[in-house]
Amino acid sequence: FGGIILKIDAETRLVGVIGNPISHSLSPVMHNAAFDALALNYIYMAFQVEKDDLEEAVKGIRALGLAGINVTIPHKTCVIPFLDELSPEAEMIGAVNTIFNRNGKLIGYNTDGYGFEMALQEQAGICLKDKNVFIIGAGGAAHAIAGQSVLSGASSVTLTNRTFEKAKSLMEFLNRSSCRCNQNAGKIIPWDKDAWRSILPHSDIIVNTTSIGMKGQGNLALDIPWDSIKKDAVFFDAVYTPMETLFLKEAKRLGYKVVSGLYMLIYQGARAFELWTGKRPPIEVMEKAVLTYFA
Ligand code: ATR
Repeated sequence: FGGIILKIDAETRLVGVIGNPISHSLSPVMHNAAFDALALNYIYMAFQVEKDDLEEAVKGIRALGLAGINVTIPHKTCVIPFLDELSPEAEMIGAVNTIFNRNGKLIGYNTDGYGFEMALQEQAGICLKDKNVFIIGAGGAAHAIAGQSVLSGASSVTLTNRTFEKAKSLMEFLNRSSCRCNQNAGKIIPWDKDAWRSILPHSDIIVNTTSIGMKGQGNLALDIPWDSIKKDAVFFDAVYTPMETLFLKEAKRLGYKVVSGLYMLIYQGARAFELWTGKRPPIEVMEKAVLTYFA
């Protein structure tokens, strides 16, 4: 028996994550290690929730007085109508990954974008402001990363996606949102090497948000015109299984700074932890807990 189970009593606050599937989530290990390190009387659980049960699950947060909950695939967007309020960045990104229960009022946040920004800052010493960001992919992760880039004052955001229509709808969404914060959104380029070659010489941050490279499937490095990339560009891969994808491995081999999506996971969790507990998150403890999984 670990310490956590023995510590549960009538004062214990419950937090957790809802998603489907959820059994591979690293969040319980990461958060419970952090609660343990700070001796906070909280416990974090994973709940598999079907789409049809989402509304009931959210009502349960209020009814049972949970401190908050993380929301993951496939519920990040569908959960919005069931909440009382949205933070500005959740509105900008159009998705919620963290709910905070403030005295019965459910407030939706998005800490994924913050996780991306902090990962770049802490692991590569680069900030988004005035940078040209090139994003490969247009799914959920791309929404958070593109939205945060606009919010944090990137000079430009360029999107490319296998299915052009999806890139178009993300760009339209960004354009609408960026009007609200007086920022420029960006542009879309075709899904081909020559088009990428034209944008890469000006790109400061190159981001993969597709699932290429996940669990060793596919290798995005084969599609990158490496000779067109500037010397000080930073590479980020939202995929973190494996922790270092072939895309990042090749970038590293060529001398570029690289950041694993694992750090986006850690920092999004850290921000959620801070929202729920009001305490400064023990980053090293959270990192160590997650890294143990990859050891
Ligand atoms: P997530 O929430 O992780 O971002 P998602 O919303 O399902 O996941 O998005 C997956 C992204 O990976 C999409 O941009 C998808 O491209 P399509 O819009 O064309 O489907 C991209 N993707 C997945 N497999 C891919 C592959 N083999 N080649 C190119 N793009 C791929």
